[in-house]
Amino acid sequence: MSTAIASATVQETSRTPHRALLARIPTDGQSAWQLSHSHSLPTLSEDQVLIRTSYVALNPFDWQGVEFKYGIGEKAKVMGRDGAGDIVAIGRKVERFKLGDRVWFCANSSASDTGAFQEYSVHSASEIGHTPNHLSDQAAATLGTGLITAGVALFRTLGLSINSLSVSTKATRKENAPWVLIWGGAGITGVYLIELARLLGYRVICSASPANHEYVRSLGADVVLDRWSNPKELVETIRKETKDQVHIAIDNVGGATAALCRQVLQGSLSWRSNNNVAMDEDDKLPAELVPIAGSPKDTDDNGDSIREVTSLRISFSTTFYGHPEFSEALLDRYDKLLEARLLTPARIRLVDGGLYGIEKGLEDLRHGRVPGGYKLVARLADTPEPTTINVQRQRQDDDAQVGAKRTWEIQDVVREQRTAKRFKDDVSSPQEEAEVEPGPRSTRSAIIA
Ligand SMILES: NC(=O)c1ccc[n+]([C@@H]2O[C@H](COP(=O)([O-])OP(=O)(O)OC[C@H]3O[C@@H](n4cnc5c(N)ncnc54)[C@H](OP(=O)(O)O)[C@@H]3O)[C@@H](O)[C@H]2O)c1
Repeated sequence: MSTAIASATVQETSRTPHRALLARIPTDGQSAWQLSHSHSLPTLSEDQVLIRTSYVALNPFDWQGVEFKYGIGEKAKVMGRDGAGDIVAIGRKVERFKLGDRVWFCANSSASDTGAFQEYSVHSASEIGHTPNHLSDQAAATLGTGLITAGVALFRTLGLSINSLSVSTKATRKENAPWVLIWGGAGITGVYLIELARLLGYRVICSASPANHEYVRSLGADVVLDRWSNPKELVETIRKETKDQVHIAIDNVGGATAALCRQVLQGSLSWRSNNNVAMDEDDKLPAELVPIAGSPKDTDDNGDSIREVTSLRISFSTTFYGHPEFSEALLDRYDKLLEARLLTPARIRLVDGGLYGIEKGLEDLRHGRVPGGYKLVARLADTPEPTTINVQRQRQDDDAQVGAKRTWEIQDVVREQRTAKRFKDDVSSPQEEAEVEPGPRSTRSAIIA
């Protein structure tokens, strides 16, 4: 059942309405993005919580969705997946959380109300995690998509057991632990895959730029390869380092590197023969590849392989959302790992201008201008008010007249003004006063200042 949040109650808690960054399929060369200062508050259903978001984080998916036109349409919609904040309203059926809990989320961005890029959003209580006291909201905002994708890949796609994730700081690995290959170890998904694979007792071999080698080692990678090496040499080095014994590989980069992963997984009779590495029955056991960012092209093994390789399809949205038995088990385990400081959030780069800064941040992400292992994060409180922006714009327009370079803030303001009229019909107005559910955990009584 859906419950509209009464505007009178919302006034007690915060601004009415709130700020949100929306996107839609762009027309006439306009930007797809538009910042609204008057977006309506989302409606809350009885198994959801309302989160007041303090920080959001940026994902490749956010620009890819706009560029390739998936997840957006003609009507403007709040985008974004990752964020952190605190719970300010709670549905009647929610038991895992209470008011005031600090939380992080990987939003189901199929609906505007759940999109991350807004000050208030609603989320299913079975799809968010607790932020431990020692972790800032800024750090917790980096967890979302990377950590959930890593969990889906390991525990759903590969079918490993969540219960095997050690929550003991004293857990040790077996000397001859199996290997997992992670291509793109310094990508955000890679960062969390390395940490989880270690906690599952695997030895980790991964590729990254040299600048990130020390970093990925600090997360638990046992062997790190230079991603810029010749691909053939990389495959050879992996065989050498692992004695040709990799049975699981996860690629976070694309089809070409997924194909290299498959080559590694197939094993090589000729390499073993040339390097005097014997083969036993276990070596022939089938191998599994998870191509997260693009499927590998088919390749001919020339009769040299020693194992069958299955390429598994990862389906993030249909596996995590709407499957509380899985999402709660995963998130409860993550709660314990985070509390015990066994999971380290990715490194942070703060974008300027809060919600205003996101479009530029996504451009940086898209053009590879963000160093590996860093997550771009925006503080919502940094979003300038329209009046501030107009003053800034006036000053900067004056500067521009005397030859100063225009900054992105000006471009954003100009864009907002140009698009404001066009988008007017799409941006909802504040909600009307509405009935709220009675009872001890009703929406109205649950809202806190
Ligand atoms: N299927 C799904 O459900 C799903 C879910 C999440 C993400 N994805 C996709 O997975 C991809 C990764 O996402 P992400 O957020 O983890 O990305 P990210 O953090 O933006 O990854 C960027 C990093 O990848 C590394 N990299 C790029 N090319 C590489 C190469 N050839 N070899 C080794 N490392 C390379 C670089 O690290 P260095 O700085 O070390 O070079 C770079 O900094 C994206 O395309 C995303 O859309 C898919």
